[in-house]
Amino acid sequence: MSTLTFPENFFFGSATAAFQIEGAGDEDGRRPSIWDAFCDEPDRILDRSNGMVACDHYHRMPADVALMKDLGLQAYRFSTSWARVMPDGETLNEAGVDFYSRLVDELLEAGIKPWLTLYHWDLPQALGERGGWTVRETPYRFADYAGELVSRLGDRVETWTTLNEPWCSSFLSYASGEHAPGHTNPSEAVDAAHYLLLAHGLGVQALRAKAPRDITVGITTNHTVAHPADPDNPADVDAARRIDGAFNRVFLDPLFKGEYPADVLSDMAEAGLGQVAREGDMAIISAPIDVLGVNFYNGGAHAAPEANATPKLWPGPGGHLIGSPFVGSETVKGVSRDLPRTAMDWEVDAADLAILLRRLHAEYTGPAGIPIVITENGAAYDDQPDADGYVDDSGDRLVYIREHLAAVHEALADGVDVRGYLVWSLLDNFEWAFGYTRRFGIVRVDYETQERIPKASARFFADVARSKQLTL
Ligand code: NOJ
Repeated sequence: MSTLTFPENFFFGSATAAFQIEGAGDEDGRRPSIWDAFCDEPDRILDRSNGMVACDHYHRMPADVALMKDLGLQAYRFSTSWARVMPDGETLNEAGVDFYSRLVDELLEAGIKPWLTLYHWDLPQALGERGGWTVRETPYRFADYAGELVSRLGDRVETWTTLNEPWCSSFLSYASGEHAPGHTNPSEAVDAAHYLLLAHGLGVQALRAKAPRDITVGITTNHTVAHPADPDNPADVDAARRIDGAFNRVFLDPLFKGEYPADVLSDMAEAGLGQVAREGDMAIISAPIDVLGVNFYNGGAHAAPEANATPKLWPGPGGHLIGSPFVGSETVKGVSRDLPRTAMDWEVDAADLAILLRRLHAEYTGPAGIPIVITENGAAYDDQPDADGYVDDSGDRLVYIREHLAAVHEALADGVDVRGYLVWSLLDNFEWAFGYTRRFGIVRVDYETQERIPKASARFFADVARSKQLTL
């Protein structure tokens, strides 16, 4: 047995997102987001569910905060629903702001640091109908939304994240069609990627301009570690390079270096990456941030397919299937590494998290002199509750979290500036296209009764959070 000690100021907490937990879809002035509209389309969501009730967090918020306090959590990352705060995408709804204001007060009262994400995929449908992320207007509406909210909550919320996982809001939403609005058009996806980056940059400007005091501003990106299936095969090395470009560098390079990587521009030339960029955009996009939020679930191995094989889809990070047009199904396929898998079918290898953190530190955050916070990490498993609803996940989710915490500790020991770890997720919740069929919570939600029942992983995580020690 060995014990790893985290720095005294390292924080442990949990993360959620508005659409995935709140419910109250048409209460207090909230109007539909693109995800409400997507859920209404046939066969988009595996169990044909929607977010109208979800975890009913909107009505149970004080109890959910009390639960976090009981678990000894030190930070809570939540997202604000743009469709609640500005139901038509531009007009402020006081009742919507009020909910988040109460949430923030409740958190502060409980001694939990609020970490606010402005955009976790639920674009107001009114803006979706005007072109969503494929038009230049949307980033400007986002900046207005950011400015309004920071002027209301900035006195109490110190840390602000512009976007969550822009890769999902562009490529999964406009190219593979798995996420709202479900389009399958690579040109739209690369335009969306650019406009999301611009929204981030304009959002940072608005946050800094309208905040009533100094705040910490960042973005959360999701990453993979792309391994060549055979490192001695140049075609596999090139396949891994393409995946790394399409998921990691296509966002990180504009944010930290003010340009799209040349190889990714060439890989995505047919779709037209960067074609909608205007003079000055890159300076806005690459303005300094104060923290990088990193979401990590898994890495993967990639290979060039055998001659003549033309798979139509190949697995991306997170097990998502990506349509062929962007990085070319003719040139890349996912290869199993024979590792254990989660209920999402995602491979588990915590070593990849340490590799990722060292790389981000060496190439991006280190040179920029900013810290990293793990804003999401966790796993779905096929939970088997006992008669009382208790889930003993000590053989899977708990192990996943423990191994990834050890990887974070390893990165810290290697000099990577990581300040905190937020587990995904506090509660079982609406897992997007998978509906309620995948459970990521350290706390079980009985969707019939809305009862919250901490799993073994919650007790374990509470111990780590309190002691700042991890026993292996
Ligand atoms: C990342 C997303 O931010 C979150 O919304 C999602 O539930 C988890 N990944 C798990 O897929």
